[in-house]
Amino acid sequence: MRTVKIGLLGLGVVGSAVSRAISSDRGMADRSGVKLEVSKAAVRDVSKPRDASLPQSALTSNPQDVVSDPDIEIVIEVMGGENPAFELITSALESGKHVVTANKEVLAKRGGELLATAQQQGTQLLYEASVGGGIPVLDAIENDLAANQINSIRAIINGTTNYILTRMSSEGAAYADVLADAQRLGYAEADPTADVDGFDALYKIVILGQLAFGVSAPVDAVYREGIRKVDAKDFRYADELGFTIKLIGAAQRTADGLMLRVHPSLVPVGVPMASVSGALNMVEIEGDLVGALWLQGPGAGPEPTASAVLGDVLSVARSTADTAPATAGAAELELAEMGSHRCRYYIRMTAADRSGVLAQVAQVLGDADISIRSVIQMDTNESEGVADLVIMTHSALEANMQEAADRLSGLDVVVELDNLIRVESYDHAD
Ligand SMILES: NC(=O)c1ccc[n+]([C@@H]2O[C@H](COP(=O)([O-])OP(=O)(O)OC[C@H]3O[C@@H](n4cnc5c(N)ncnc54)[C@H](OP(=O)(O)O)[C@@H]3O)[C@@H](O)[C@H]2O)c1
Repeated sequence: MRTVKIGLLGLGVVGSAVSRAISSDRGMADRSGVKLEVSKAAVRDVSKPRDASLPQSALTSNPQDVVSDPDIEIVIEVMGGENPAFELITSALESGKHVVTANKEVLAKRGGELLATAQQQGTQLLYEASVGGGIPVLDAIENDLAANQINSIRAIINGTTNYILTRMSSEGAAYADVLADAQRLGYAEADPTADVDGFDALYKIVILGQLAFGVSAPVDAVYREGIRKVDAKDFRYADELGFTIKLIGAAQRTADGLMLRVHPSLVPVGVPMASVSGALNMVEIEGDLVGALWLQGPGAGPEPTASAVLGDVLSVARSTADTAPATAGAAELELAEMGSHRCRYYIRMTAADRSGVLAQVAQVLGDADISIRSVIQMDTNESEGVADLVIMTHSALEANMQEAADRLSGLDVVVELDNLIRVESYDHAD
């Protein structure tokens, strides 16, 4: 049986789980025909106690020891961040090593360059764990669905925000309270920005857009909106209308090109994504042959992520030397402007509770070519003379909606335009 020496860049949550899974083996070598062996692991602090089933002598604080070790065939990068991960992956590929990474940030920001380097060197760069944790989504797109033209990918790809939104939905709780609780329980970081402002989901949808549609979108060119503005009231009103609210990352083929977007969405209660609860992830893929399919599972966590990392490692280790290196999909599409997105909108505003208000609001929307599907008035506050006005529109153009939102905010009768949430389109539910 062939022994393949592995070098780890990072031995934190994921790196330690990978190391433990390799050392415990659990029949992995017999099943795959390859014996893996971690020979070196780079960390910041070699004296830190860790549960990694690795002798202290294997640790180094110099990552170059890993990328330049001639005995190491496969480097696993699980340190995270753009730098120095980018330089180290590049250096490992240039030394003829295959690289497996779980790092969504470096792939979203520099994936095109890294894949080009791998291609030039004839080495492989695999990154299944970077999207959807343990869910085998990239391999499914690249291999199992290779015969399909992918038309749409929509996903719940951030466990922290899905956990927060699920609890807000089921308990009617306020965002700030659930976030504080999630931080206490370890579901959210002390600095929750990467999750709640949608950066993590953005990186993942950019990677999916690159793999499935061949579009290397600059991360700051993609529309991103997090969940901070979603209020307990929005869940209550969405529920009345037959929806729940999810943070959705989408990559969709449109007449204007590839539409990439990350934002909270109203999702009809009957569709599979509506029932994805807690920290679970789901990726919905629509291909022209297969139709729609839904992959659901653990989007993070040490063991599920190690499962995806080691799947890639074994795939590289078992492949023959002349296997074609991983590539980004062939570029086919331009990146579409968010302004060209079309969907229905949920608008919640605090407005004066008197006659004529709706006529003014309808006029603004009508001027922007937006027609109203339904209006409900909720939570009248008689002492202040205001009420919540919740409007569902018919399908409209984002650019028109943004213009109308500005004008609505400026109306005297509108105290506050509290929230504007896009509605995910499902043909049968529209
Ligand atoms: N955690 C998950 O569930 C999960 C799921 C999917 C993907 N990922 C991705 O996997 C990657 C790793 O995540 P993680 O949760 O394992 O992170 P982590 O626990 O913070 O571990 C990072 C590791 O990298 C080492 N490191 C960081 N910067 C370094 C540097 N400049 N030089 C040498 N070593 C360095 C750290 O060393 P010390 O130990 O000495 O500090 C630590 O061992 C990230 O890209 C993350 O996005 C994580």
